[in-house]
Amino acid sequence: MDFGPLIKGKSIFITGASSGIGEHFARLCARLGARVAIAARRVDALRDLENELNAGGAANTLAIGLDVADAAAIEPAIRAARQKFGGLDVVVNNAGVAPDGAAIDMPMDRFDQVLDVNLRGAYAVATAAARVWREDKRGGSLINIASILGLRQATGVSPYAISKAGVVQMTKLLALEWTRYGIRVNALAPGYIDTPMTHDYFVSDHGKATLNRIPMRRIGRAEDLDGPFLLLATEASSYMTGAVIPVDGGHVVNSL
Ligand SMILES: NC(=O)c1ccc[n+]([C@@H]2O[C@H](COP(=O)([O-])OP(=O)(O)OC[C@H]3O[C@@H](n4cnc5c(N)ncnc54)[C@H](OP(=O)(O)O)[C@@H]3O)[C@@H](O)[C@H]2O)c1
Repeated sequence: MDFGPLIKGKSIFITGASSGIGEHFARLCARLGARVAIAARRVDALRDLENELNAGGAANTLAIGLDVADAAAIEPAIRAARQKFGGLDVVVNNAGVAPDGAAIDMPMDRFDQVLDVNLRGAYAVATAAARVWREDKRGGSLINIASILGLRQATGVSPYAISKAGVVQMTKLLALEWTRYGIRVNALAPGYIDTPMTHDYFVSDHGKATLNRIPMRRIGRAEDLDGPFLLLATEASSYMTGAVIPVDGGHVVNSL
C-alpha cells in the first residue's frame, strides 16, 4: 500500500522526537509531506531536527520543548501545534525512559520517574489531545508506543514493563471511551529496536542471549515500524481502534 498520499498534509504531534524512534517517525512523516510538531526535553536536538526538516523552506516542522512528566505543560504544547498547523490529525505518545534494575532493590523514586513519564505522561498527552479534538469537533488518531514488555515478562525491567502494561490497558480503555468523538486509539508494541535506548544492551552478553530468543534472530530497526505506524496514522486503519500491534520479529510468540 502507498501511504504517501494518505499521510501527506496531515498534522502530527510526536513526543520523544529528539532521539530514536520518535526522531525517525518525524523524519518519515516530513519526507511524506506531513506537518510535524516535535516535542521532547532536549530543545537543542529538536532545533537541529527542525532546521533539517524545514531546510526546503516549507516551515512544516515545529519544535516544542516539553517534559511529559510536567502535566500542566502538555495541553499548551498540543494547543501550540494545533494553532500553528490549523488542527491536528495524529498524536504519537512516544516519549519513554527505560532504566533497568532488580525489583528488590528498586528505589521508589526511580519507579515513580519511569511511571511519571511512560504512563502518567502518556495519559496526560492522550487526554489533552482528546480535549482538543473534542473542542474542534474532529476526530483524530492517537498512537501509543507500548512495548512487548507490556505483554510479556523479563527480569530487571519491572517499572518499565509495568508502565508499558499500563499503556496497553490505557489504549483499550481510551479507545472504548472515545469512539463517540471520532478518536481512534491504537498502540504499537515494538520488540527490541536499535536506538540509543537499547544500543549498549545489545552489545552485552545478556543482550546477545536475548537476540537468540527472537525468532527472526535480529534486532529491529526503526524502519521496521514504518508500515504499522503509517497504517495507524492514516485512514487505512479507519476501522481499527483499541488494537495493540506487536512489531517484534516474532519475539512475543517465541517458544516456551
Ligand atoms: N528501542 C526499543 O527497543 C523500544 C522497544 C519498545 C518500545 N520502545 C519505546 O519507544 C519509545 C521511544 O524509545 P527509543 O528507543 O526511541 O528511545 P530513545 O532513543 O531513548 O528516545 C526516547 C525519547 O523520549 C524522550 N523523553 C524521555 N523522557 C522524556 C520526558 N520526560 N518528556 C519528554 N520526552 C522525554 C527523549 O527525549 P529527551 O531526553 O530530549 O526528553 C527521547 O526523545 C519509548 O516509549 C520506548 O519505551 C522502545
